[in-house]
Amino acid sequence: MGLRLGDEAPNFTAVTTEGEISFHDWKQGSWAVFFSHPADFTPVCTTELGRTAALKGEFEKRNVKAIAVSVDSVEDHHGWAPDIGEVGGTDLNFPIIADPDRKVSELYDMIHPGEGDTSTVRSVFIIDPNNKIRLTLTYPKSVGRNFNEILRVIDALQATDANPIATPADWAPGDRVIAAPTLSTEEVQERFQNVEVRKPYLRFVDAP
Ligand code: BEZ
Repeated sequence: MGLRLGDEAPNFTAVTTEGEISFHDWKQGSWAVFFSHPADFTPVCTTELGRTAALKGEFEKRNVKAIAVSVDSVEDHHGWAPDIGEVGGTDLNFPIIADPDRKVSELYDMIHPGEGDTSTVRSVFIIDPNNKIRLTLTYPKSVGRNFNEILRVIDALQATDANPIATPADWAPGDRVIAAPTLSTEEVQERFQNVEVRKPYLRFVDAP
């Protein structure tokens, strides 16, 4: 069975472009965006890893570390890194795991045989500081991911961890939020500003 939300993200050791790591030690105390790409020296992947490098400051603001994986060798990753830097406008600044024996990719169910070959699809795992899997995404090889959406979802997860709220469709940071259904409307009135009761179970409030 694949990994589910709420599961502990499995630990592993692996060789990366920044040396050998133990995953849990490497991310200790941080959130992680752990994502797979099909292959080095391919166009969509180059844009994705370049974008991730360019977003380093945004990830740092949110206490997030990024790490990528593919079934290529660490020598290939090092050979490809200058292209990532050139395309993203920033040197490669996060580790890429070399997984030629597919140990990590299989552990995280990132190889989907129906997708044509034995390389990884575009999986994303957002993992919290307690190593719990909080979000998964799976994109096909031909479609690059939206890294603004990855940042948005991290913002939503961090906001909903900090307060009894949820985020509505298309929410963006700064938008109003929804009071948790577990609170009575009286509690919502006491706790939040500018409460709008659209339905007894749908109470929009200002983000705390
Ligand atoms: C790409 O990164 O462009 C790519 C990789 C594998 C299959 C399709 C596209």
